[in-house]
Amino acid sequence: VSRGPFFAANWKMYMDPETARDYANAFELLAEPFVDDAYIALCAPFVCLETLSEELEDSEIGIGAQDCYWEPEGAFTGEISARMLRELVDCCIVGHSERRRLFGETDEMVARKVSALLAQEITPIVCVGESLEENQAGRTAERVTAQVVAGLGHLTDEQRGAIVIAYEPIWAIGTGLADTPESANATIAVIRSAAGGLDQAVMLYGGSMKPGNAEALCRQPNIDGGLVGSASLDPGAFAELIVNGLKGGDAR
Ligand code: PGA
Repeated sequence: VSRGPFFAANWKMYMDPETARDYANAFELLAEPFVDDAYIALCAPFVCLETLSEELEDSEIGIGAQDCYWEPEGAFTGEISARMLRELVDCCIVGHSERRRLFGETDEMVARKVSALLAQEITPIVCVGESLEENQAGRTAERVTAQVVAGLGHLTDEQRGAIVIAYEPIWAIGTGLADTPESANATIAVIRSAAGGLDQAVMLYGGSMKPGNAEALCRQPNIDGGLVGSASLDPGAFAELIVNGLKGGDAR
């Protein structure tokens, strides 16, 4: 990846192979006018990946997973390794706040997953972000810095340029209440300077990004695109969001 417009859909635990196929067909047509202007990926549940890779075989639209395990294989019931994903995906979300909060994913696990993905040449989309309490206590910069240092501090300079980071304030996810463009931009500047510098990494904003706020968010100099949950579940809304985000990016 290089720093440029990047929009990833995070379908979370929605869709199945049938609905994923319908989505892919509809979205491919909608995305035709701008598919060369941005890197776009659909991060889908594991069971949809094979269908998506068939449907999008001749498309520029990328495919992503939402999690992985770091060991290549072994007695890890229920897990899917980065190596198993290699043929199916271009990128993979790591450390989403839902996984951290509901499934006990730690910064140390994030660090291992990132290394495993990079070893398979899969682009990690690493999520960081503060809780509402941390935000209200003025601890946002401290929190995201700690997550970046612990999760990404081990990377080489070259690896730092091969990752995507999504700043997702937890209080903004699925609430309809996005961070302001200025505040998100400022926090992403903090993330960029953490862990010895992440100038080359692609930086996304996530948390209630919608067609209506994508342009203003993407106009900020530090915001290269978005990680989009709710608004990505409808192909028309996701396409509109990308068009508006690209307008913002062009204006910066
Ligand atoms: P949202 O989700 O767009 O629905 O807020 C974003 C995310 O969780 O990645």
